[in-house]
Amino acid sequence: MCGIFGYIGSKDPLTVCLKGLEQLEYRGYDSTGIAGVIAGKIASYKEAGKISLLKQKINLRSLELAIGHTRWATHGKVSQENAHPHVDASQSIALVHNGIIENYSSLRDGLKRQGVLFASETDSEVIVQLVSSFYRGDLCKAVQQTLPLLHGAFAIALIHKDHPDQILVAARESPLAIGFDDEHTESIVSSDPNAFLGRAFNVLFLHDDEIACVQKGRVHLFDQKLVPIAKKIERFETDYQTPSKEGFEHFMLKEIYEQPKTIQNAMFGRADPNFEKFGFSEEEIKSFKNVWILGCGTSAHAGSIGAMYFEDLAKLPASCDIASEARYRDPILGPDTLVIGISQSGETADTLAAIREAKKQGCKILGICNVLHSTLTREATGSIFLKAGPEISVCSTKAFSSQLVVLNLLALHFAHVRGCLAPGEADSYLAELKKIPEQIQEVMQQAPTLQKLAKKYAHYHDFFFMGRRYMFRAAQEAALKLKEISYVNANGYPAGELKHGPLALVNPQLPIVAFCSNMKTQEKILSNLMEVKARGGPILAFAPKQLKEVAAVADDVVWLPSTLDELAPFASTIAGQLLAYFIAKEKGCDIDQPRNLAKSVTVE
Ligand code: AGP
Repeated sequence: MCGIFGYIGSKDPLTVCLKGLEQLEYRGYDSTGIAGVIAGKIASYKEAGKISLLKQKINLRSLELAIGHTRWATHGKVSQENAHPHVDASQSIALVHNGIIENYSSLRDGLKRQGVLFASETDSEVIVQLVSSFYRGDLCKAVQQTLPLLHGAFAIALIHKDHPDQILVAARESPLAIGFDDEHTESIVSSDPNAFLGRAFNVLFLHDDEIACVQKGRVHLFDQKLVPIAKKIERFETDYQTPSKEGFEHFMLKEIYEQPKTIQNAMFGRADPNFEKFGFSEEEIKSFKNVWILGCGTSAHAGSIGAMYFEDLAKLPASCDIASEARYRDPILGPDTLVIGISQSGETADTLAAIREAKKQGCKILGICNVLHSTLTREATGSIFLKAGPEISVCSTKAFSSQLVVLNLLALHFAHVRGCLAPGEADSYLAELKKIPEQIQEVMQQAPTLQKLAKKYAHYHDFFFMGRRYMFRAAQEAALKLKEISYVNANGYPAGELKHGPLALVNPQLPIVAFCSNMKTQEKILSNLMEVKARGGPILAFAPKQLKEVAAVADDVVWLPSTLDELAPFASTIAGQLLAYFIAKEKGCDIDQPRNLAKSVTVE
């Protein structure tokens, strides 16, 4: 789960490579490194730490070409030795790798028996050592001989000291984009074409086991047998802007505060029962008998709320599964199931694997995504973009609220097409939805209150978040925010399940964070609060203004705007985002890049 980048061309390879890696840091930030060729020798530099550290320390001048890597550790601890690029024992070839080589251990044992000395604990190093063992003057041939021995997923880029005019790349189940300019003066290879730094490029994507020899402004493509192949070339113009915090202390806070705007962007052209075109005809919409939503983490939480929208608004059976589980299930699927893959990045490995399985079974795929040109949108039948702008903080905030908007309006559109709406129903619903950006401003005005509460609650080691129906999912999402950036244990649970086990946990050291905005179940949640109170658990409630009874039972209440149950997750989760942010700040955590995580989880 790493980012790889390579450059050969008329500009300074080191400078371009460092900039490219900065764009890929969302794929991992445990360690980083760059290698190139200088005067017939491989030169490389790597660091355990972020790219900012590499930038300060790297001192490689006059590289003829460069490959670089930003790592999220899988095999081998975070250390300089395990950082990429990896160089073979003869110091002739350097390699960067994204993915996992599942049979690396047996390959490594075999190479060791032949006397090869390894310098790292990684799975990736076996690739460069294997290529080296096959190399007889033709790097492409050596790569071709290596690929069939590898089990697992990979995108690799290699350079050889004797071939300073080429970068060799190959891929299997991992994205790899190659771009070259019209003048044939430069080429870039990257895990993500959005890292092409704001220039117009001709771009192609490698498919499984294809190999490319990339030269200045030129690409030679081969299949597994080294037979030259031609490929569709797309024109990409990426919009490169150095991400800025715009005066906020963290990207996360900036992104939380962007939500009134990003929610409006997500509504634009869609806040109408007719919705925008997204690759499916009305006949197809009518033909679907159920909806299956797939995603991971925060996207899965949005998907779970989305499934409720489809049932409540469009009267269509719908469910959401965590993609890492779904990909190994054997569900009964067919053309009458609409499969929705939901992902901020569009690169999450499990989500992609799950939709590929569904595709094999004849399902059409709708991708809901924030990143243009991402793998999800390239593989889906149709796509809807969140238009939330780049989300830099690992902790997802604005993408989540945009996902809710899109799912909500999509379900309303399905309801309209399927004739489930009473006259005037869509208008009154949309009127409520359009109030959301303003209501969120109201939540943000409570930031000082949430900061005070964060100071009060930051010393607890465990939290229990609960809610019912829409608020159960909001509780899960808010709990994920807290554990992700504050490193405290937080469970998100359906409040009705309390008596079935978790009530045993309740004690004065376990704050209960209760999300009370689901009015259909208001009496039930009040009873749950009483049960907690009777057992001495501290209660922090997030409640709509009209539910005054909460004040009598909770220790602290954050009052939220009143709205429909379906729309209550917006204010509740955004209040939860702010609480998590202030607790993490109180604890001095690395808020934008929490330990052990990456923005985009590109390995299984
Ligand atoms: C959310 O705060 C997380 N960082 C994480 O759960 C994330 O939502 C998940 O990895 C899925 O990512 P995606 O939306 O890019 O697919």
